[in-house]
Amino acid sequence: MQRVGFIGLGLMGGPMAANIARAGYPLTVYNRTPAKAEPLLALGARLVSTPREVAQSSQTIVTMLADASAVEAVLSGPDGMLAGGQAGTVLIDMSTVAPEQSRRIGSGVAAQGWLMLDAPVFGSTGPAKDGSLGILVGGDEEVFEAQRALLEKMGKHLFYFGPQGSGATAKLCFNLMVASQVAGLAEAMSLAAKGGLDLEQVGRAILASPVASVLVQRKIGNMVGNDFPAAFPLKHMHKDLGLMVGTAHALGAALPVTASIHQLFSAARARGYGEEDFAAVFRMLAEMAGL
Ligand SMILES: NC(=O)c1ccc[n+]([C@@H]2O[C@H](COP(=O)([O-])OP(=O)(O)OC[C@H]3O[C@@H](n4cnc5c(N)ncnc54)[C@H](OP(=O)(O)O)[C@@H]3O)[C@@H](O)[C@H]2O)c1
Repeated sequence: MQRVGFIGLGLMGGPMAANIARAGYPLTVYNRTPAKAEPLLALGARLVSTPREVAQSSQTIVTMLADASAVEAVLSGPDGMLAGGQAGTVLIDMSTVAPEQSRRIGSGVAAQGWLMLDAPVFGSTGPAKDGSLGILVGGDEEVFEAQRALLEKMGKHLFYFGPQGSGATAKLCFNLMVASQVAGLAEAMSLAAKGGLDLEQVGRAILASPVASVLVQRKIGNMVGNDFPAAFPLKHMHKDLGLMVGTAHALGAALPVTASIHQLFSAARARGYGEEDFAAVFRMLAEMAGL
């Protein structure tokens, strides 16, 4: 079995790495905050103190980090991955980044003889735990096929889209729909509250109707209960909305609805809701409505 490295053991990366360890791959892990590696040690993973040591021990390295600057931070410098890896090392970046950022990272690692896939995911912490994520892949198709078995330990639905950056583009399209559904639900619930309706009753009616997507089913309870423990932190959805608007601008596509939702999330983040689940955009709308 190939030796695997994993960097970024946050809400998503922790359970994804655990699935790789449970599948029996020799696994070396690094996280900026080392305490988050604790559950993996019990599964036989080895914790090291720099990304360089991960690269020294691994043939394939998975990154699941907040954003592109975090990926670049763990790649570069004397303790970075590139200082420790051999030519032929495969980097699978599963973080949500812009296609342009992914291509920039890809050319940086290619200059050292590394191969790279962009493989961001759909599904949140539940699918990360039970290994049923959707994985949206860009990069060389042969490299993808060679890594399929490893990816299948983390996800049930694998989609190959084309060259480097294609997975990142697909991921932004997904999150565009996720953001707009949840923003729409939050506006509906805010209007209902302002109109004096009982939110539990409104929630029951929505769940009985055709608008009750799986996502709406997951998030409506947060809004009714006004409680938003982070599954997907609002700060990350705000980052993704910025990537959508920036990518659309670069490509000449118009995203008028998404641009408005981006502004709403900017306000919610500035208001201090960045660490809560992104459904906490409801709090922002409730405040704007004077509730
Ligand atoms: N949560 C979801 O439902 C979900 C779903 C699909 C995709 N995503 C995407 O998946 C990625 C990870 O999300 P998450 O929810 O797991 O986020 P998270 O819990 O905030 O974890 C972020 C990870 O990035 C690390 N990190 C951040 N900045 C860093 C830096 N400058 N240098 C080194 N490490 C750094 C963090 O280290 P520390 O532990 O030290 O902070 C942590 O390991 C994001 O791109 C997100 O958009 C999330």
